[in-house]
Amino acid sequence: MTERLVSGKSIEEDTLLESNLRPRKIADYVGQDKIKHNLGIAMAAARQRDEALDHLLLYGPPGLGKTTLANIVASEMGVNIKVTSGPAIERPGDMAAILTSLRPNDVLFIDEIHRLNRAVEEVLYPAMEDFFLSWLMGKGLGARAVNLKVPPFTLIGATTRFAQISAPLRNRFGLLFRLDFYEPDAILRLLQRSATILQIKAEDEGLNEIARRARGTPRVANRLLKRVRDYAQVMVDGTVGVNVAKEALLGLEIDGLGLDDLDHKILRALVEKFDGGPVGLETIGASISEEPDTIMDVYEPYLMQMGFVTRTPRGRVATSKAYKHLGVPYKGKDQAQQVSFWESAPNQIPE
Ligand SMILES: Nc1ncnc2c1ncn2[C@@H]1O[C@H](COP(=O)(O)OP(=O)(O)OP(=O)(O)O)[C@@H](O)[C@H]1O
Ligand SMILES: [Mg+2]
Repeated sequence: MTERLVSGKSIEEDTLLESNLRPRKIADYVGQDKIKHNLGIAMAAARQRDEALDHLLLYGPPGLGKTTLANIVASEMGVNIKVTSGPAIERPGDMAAILTSLRPNDVLFIDEIHRLNRAVEEVLYPAMEDFFLSWLMGKGLGARAVNLKVPPFTLIGATTRFAQISAPLRNRFGLLFRLDFYEPDAILRLLQRSATILQIKAEDEGLNEIARRARGTPRVANRLLKRVRDYAQVMVDGTVGVNVAKEALLGLEIDGLGLDDLDHKILRALVEKFDGGPVGLETIGASISEEPDTIMDVYEPYLMQMGFVTRTPRGRVATSKAYKHLGVPYKGKDQAQQVSFWESAPNQIPE
């Protein structure tokens, strides 16, 4: 499989890059000001009371900084972090073993928390609420109930799929934050920091070109910076200026709004094969040989944020903005509805 600039998961070469560039202090974590403010207050209060921070759920599209923030919280609270993921915890006993190994006020970070299985989740409920474990060990006649106290801890859950988290689990989080796409000026600050760490000579106008096409996503911004650096090194003297950045991004087939080849395929399929929709995600996926999950988690959030695609009960619909971006004449419904509204009630102001 070829490397994608926009992808849900960290690819192998990211591992080193991300560990170098991943901010460790809240001061280096750009943007998300509301979250930082509210989290800052909750952390200060918990520290003053010498308690574990309330359980925290972070959700939002990939690459926006959930894992980074979880690590920062642990370090700001001065506690250890234990990292695991939903699919990695198979049995209730595994969950119990993890919980009993924590030290007081530690952070347990569960990535992809929507993928925890039911039995494991049920061990978590009393643990989150009363720091108490209760589960049935073994099967049949030999089965026995195990009850155990666990130290107070902070569960930090991360997910791209908020809707898939069961209500009982969701209700046990005291702090829930949705990470939003970043504004271009926040991405610019992030790129300036990354360029300094990676010792890249870069002009702000050059970084701005990257920021505008980074789809509001720190991970994508850092990947683009790396690609543009390579280009600048080979084609000029290594300095990332505005023209070099533009040329490099053109070569990567990233358009002026940060849409890549697959974004275009999705929009084209919607517009050209399905007449603008509504059409189900599975059908779109099948028509372009792409996993519906990838489209839903990685691509769709940004296309929706940009106002190119909307979700309706009957499926996805391309907006007039999408047609315009593709240069295809729009004959769809959202415009037609507007026209008929003004024609039928010209003096009324729409709500
Ligand atoms: N607010 C931020 N400030 C600076 N850098 C950031 C910020 N958020 C994320 N990053 C950078 O982006 C990279 C990706 O972030 P991270 O791995 O935390 O995303 P994620 O939300 O956990 O993604 P996924 O859903 O794929 O697990 C990090 O390695 C870090 O370098
Ligand atoms: Mg993560």
